[in-house]
Amino acid sequence: MLDILVLAAGKGTRMRSDLPKVLHPIGGKALVQHVVDTARQVGGEQILIIVGHGAGKVEEKMAAPDVKFVLQAQQLGTGHAVQQALPQLRNDATVLILYGDVPLTRAETLQKLIAGVNEKKMGLLTVNMQDPSGYGRIVRDNSGAVIAIVEHKDASDEQRKIAEINTGIMAVKAALLQKWLPQLKNNNAQGEFYLTDVIAMAKADGVAIHVEQPDAVEEVEGINNRQQQAALERFYQKQKANELMVAGVTLLDPARIDIRGTITAGRDVVIDVNCVFEGDVVLGDGVVIEPNSIIINSKIGNNTHIKAFSHIEDSVLAEHCDIGPYARLRPGTNLADDVKIGNFVETKKAVIAKGSKVNHLSYIGDATIGSKVNVGAGTITCNYDGVNKFKTEIGDNAFIGSNSALVAPVKIGTGATVGAGSIITKDVEAAELAIARSKQRNIQGWERPTKK
Ligand code: UD1
Ligand code: CA
Repeated sequence: MLDILVLAAGKGTRMRSDLPKVLHPIGGKALVQHVVDTARQVGGEQILIIVGHGAGKVEEKMAAPDVKFVLQAQQLGTGHAVQQALPQLRNDATVLILYGDVPLTRAETLQKLIAGVNEKKMGLLTVNMQDPSGYGRIVRDNSGAVIAIVEHKDASDEQRKIAEINTGIMAVKAALLQKWLPQLKNNNAQGEFYLTDVIAMAKADGVAIHVEQPDAVEEVEGINNRQQQAALERFYQKQKANELMVAGVTLLDPARIDIRGTITAGRDVVIDVNCVFEGDVVLGDGVVIEPNSIIINSKIGNNTHIKAFSHIEDSVLAEHCDIGPYARLRPGTNLADDVKIGNFVETKKAVIAKGSKVNHLSYIGDATIGSKVNVGAGTITCNYDGVNKFKTEIGDNAFIGSNSALVAPVKIGTGATVGAGSIITKDVEAAELAIARSKQRNIQGWERPTKK
């Protein structure tokens, strides 16, 4: 039985932000969301978030069936924070204590920490730091057993030399917390109720401290300012890039990719520099993505080629499509196999069937286009009258001449042709030619004006 506490009441003064600290992102996801996701991964049945500063915003963002919020109106210390949650803890539960501003702890590390916990043993996650200043130090006896944590401000010069520090993360039986926390005192350098004082109480009660350490120090690093946020973001992105390469993706430069969500990639995918991925992105086998492209919540089929500077959002592309450079595929774009969308083309709610081409400088919105259609340069679907949106339907094998305006609602039949520069306001039947432009006049003997 596992209850998980997430301490998230602190102010985060050094972020200098209107947003509560724990809602700032790493990899596009709020810090505290990372923590709650990990809490679920380790099997937390009840997740209690201790909120204080910006409580309303945190509760709004994090509300979920397995999450409860506990208000710590005044922040009187980490021990005080846990005290607020005591009434919610289930008596037989193991309690894992996490921090809303420490986003990257791995579930495996926490699992190891929880594994050995019982009435006679609690778990403590520590790490060795080159510069331990500011942190609580782990004090051990001659046999190597942990006997206390001393906060930096309360520590002697000798204790300040200890490199092993408290990450703050611990696992302990609820019954022991129920016993120990009411005994905490705040007669220390900061006048706070320190959670860390329970270690000395454990020692006094004959409860052993089982210590675990993370694989990487970044797993236990918290975020207090923008520099630390940026540093942890880079660490996170490096990990994500590495996962992609392990999965067989070629990254032209693993330091120049940003993943703010998940990528699922097939075999032999190539991603060039400065691409950004958001939400859930699925890339088929052999997909090539050229530099500076942004792909959001989209699915790209096998062997589709995204050329440089393309922006693709909430779209589905089938196989062997050719996109960009400088294409903008907006939500609801759905392309069948072998479709070509060229430079400076914008699509929105556009369903385009196999082998059709929109190669240059067009807007295709609220449109259905059949197969093997050629849409000439500069063609626009006029889908909006200022109030309502209307649909354009184009049949298979139609040919739309350059610089045409298709004023929706309008249908262009199968195999129909629209002459260049036409403004089409009436349906065109199958195989018809529609020309809707003024006739050309050539004037003979005309003289250019001359300078007076
Ligand atoms: C704490 C530990 C210290 C450890 C360090 C690791 C204590 C007394 N000290 O110190 O041993 O090395 O973390 O980073 O526990 N919080 C609340 N309510 C409060 C106070 C804090 O929710 O009343 C939350 C904060 O939002 C933050 C976390 O608890 O997420 C840690 O608080 P902080 O004040 O940063 O603790 P430290 O002094 O850094
Ligand atoms: Ca801290």
